[in-house]
Amino acid sequence: MPASRLLRAVPRASFAVCRPVSLTAASPTLARRQSTAPTINTKTYGLPEFSLQGKVVIVSGGARGVGLVQAEALLDAGARVHALDRLPEPSPDFARVADKAKQQGSALTYHRVDVREEETLNELIAKIADEHGRLDGLVAAAGIQQETPALEYSGVDFDRMMATNVTGVFLTAQAVARQMLRLSGGKPTSGSMALIASMSGTVANRGLICPAYNASKSAVLQLGRNLASEWGEHGIRVNTISPGYIVTAMTEALFDKYPERRADWANGNMLGRLSKPEEYRGAAVFLLSDASSFMTGSDLRIDGGHCAW
Ligand SMILES: NC(=O)c1ccc[n+]([C@@H]2O[C@H](COP(=O)([O-])OP(=O)(O)OC[C@H]3O[C@@H](n4cnc5c(N)ncnc54)[C@H](O)[C@@H]3O)[C@@H](O)[C@H]2O)c1
Repeated sequence: MPASRLLRAVPRASFAVCRPVSLTAASPTLARRQSTAPTINTKTYGLPEFSLQGKVVIVSGGARGVGLVQAEALLDAGARVHALDRLPEPSPDFARVADKAKQQGSALTYHRVDVREEETLNELIAKIADEHGRLDGLVAAAGIQQETPALEYSGVDFDRMMATNVTGVFLTAQAVARQMLRLSGGKPTSGSMALIASMSGTVANRGLICPAYNASKSAVLQLGRNLASEWGEHGIRVNTISPGYIVTAMTEALFDKYPERRADWANGNMLGRLSKPEEYRGAAVFLLSDASSFMTGSDLRIDGGHCAW
C-alpha cells in the first residue's frame, strides 16, 4: 500500500502518541498513566502448573508491604504460609489476609523473629518443617533501607544494612534448604526460593543516595546465583526478583521527607508511574510453583523499564 494511503488508514487518535509530552506530577498524561495501573483479578482459570496447593512456604518480612502481599498471592494459589518478621505485631492488613486464608482452607501464621538471629531462626524453621512434615519454598523479603551519603555513612550502619539485607537473606535461605534436605533424607527434592533483590542492585538510582542498600541488593543478586549453583543438584531452585519503585511503608517514609520524589521516580521508568506491591504477586507464584520448574540462578527484573533505557 502506498505510504499516503497507509497514513490515511491510520485513525487520527493514533497520532496523539507522537506529540511531545511533559511528564511532570501535574501533567494530565502522567495522571492518565498512573490510572492505567491494572486492577488485579483474583480468579484463576486452570494452568495447574501455577498451583501451590498443599505446599508450605516461608515468607520473611511477611508482616507488611511486599512480603505480606506476596504471602497473600501464595495463599491464593493454595499454599500454607508462615510469615517471619521482627515486628512485635504484623500490620493491620495481616488479619484480613489470615482470615481470607482460613476461608480458603489454608493458613497464614505469624512468627516474630529477627532474620539475623541464626540459632532462633534455625530452630523456628525446623519447627515449621516438623509441623507440616514438608517445606517447599521461601520468599525472602525482609529488608531495610537507609539513605545517607557515602561520605557520611558509618561502619556500624553499613554493617547493619549488610547483616539484614545480605546475611539475613542468606541465613534464612540456608535454614530453609537445611530443612528441605533433612526432610528428603538428602535425596533430591523440589524446593524453590525467591530472594527479593531490587533494580537498585543493578543501577545507581538517580537522586537516591543509598550506597549500602544498593551494594546489599547487588549482593543478593550474586547470592541467588551462588545458592542456585550449589543447590541445583538437590532440586532446590533459587531465583531473585528485582522490583522497581513500589509504594510501601518503606518508600512512603522517603516521600514524607522528599515529596517531589513521587513524580521524579515515576518519570524514571517507561510506564511513567510507581508500582503497587500487588504487581509482584504473579512473580512470587511463578517462581515458587512448577510453572518455573526449569528456572534457577535467574533474576526477574520488574521495574517498568527503569533499567532498560
Ligand atoms: N519498596 C520498594 O520500592 C522496593 C523496591 C525494590 C525492592 N524492595 C525490597 O522489597 C522488600 C520488602 O520491602 P517493602 O518495601 O515491603 O518494605 P517494608 O519495610 O514495608 O517491609 C520490610 C519488612 O522486613 C522486615 N524486616 C526488616 N528487618 C528485619 C529483620 N532483621 N528481621 C526480620 N524482619 C525484618 C520489616 O519489619 C518489614 O516488615 C525489601 O527487601 C526491599 O528492599 C522494595
